[in-house]
Amino acid sequence: MMISKKMLDAINEQINLELNSAYIYYGMVAYFEAEDYSGMAHWLNIQAKEELEHAQRLFDFVNEVGEKVTLGALDKPSVDYKDPLDVFKAGLEHEKFITASIQKLYELAKSEKQYAAEEMLRWFINEQVEEENNFSHIVTLLERAAGKSGSLMMIDGKLGQREE
Ligand code: FEO
Repeated sequence: MMISKKMLDAINEQINLELNSAYIYYGMVAYFEAEDYSGMAHWLNIQAKEELEHAQRLFDFVNEVGEKVTLGALDKPSVDYKDPLDVFKAGLEHEKFITASIQKLYELAKSEKQYAAEEMLRWFINEQVEEENNFSHIVTLLERAAGKSGSLMMIDGKLGQREE
């Protein structure tokens, strides 16, 4: 067995969290589309797809080590927010939660001498630095905009340029 049962369970749990992340971000896309912020909707749409890729990475790993993926239920995400700042603050908090979860997984891999898992998880440790930084940067821009519609339109335009 390339990975322990404990490690397998924890990775399966993380697959669920990544899929939940995609679902949460699709909820935010729904909010922005309804509010006609198409740039912010576009940015979060790409973000949701990235989360599906994160889940896929873990999914592939479980299969590659000859184990079976288990899938849990997804939580119902919100499609109602106060304003753009509220959305991106929630996104930043969510990414912090995911970082903590990845770090716990990584610690488990180290303490249980799960070398293959440890190696695979290193990518996620680096990715989370970028994930938090992306959301944190947008929160700063939105705080600076202080709800002024001209500034919000500019930020919307900028986020609309995010590439896949
Ligand atoms: Fe999959 Fe945004 O972390």
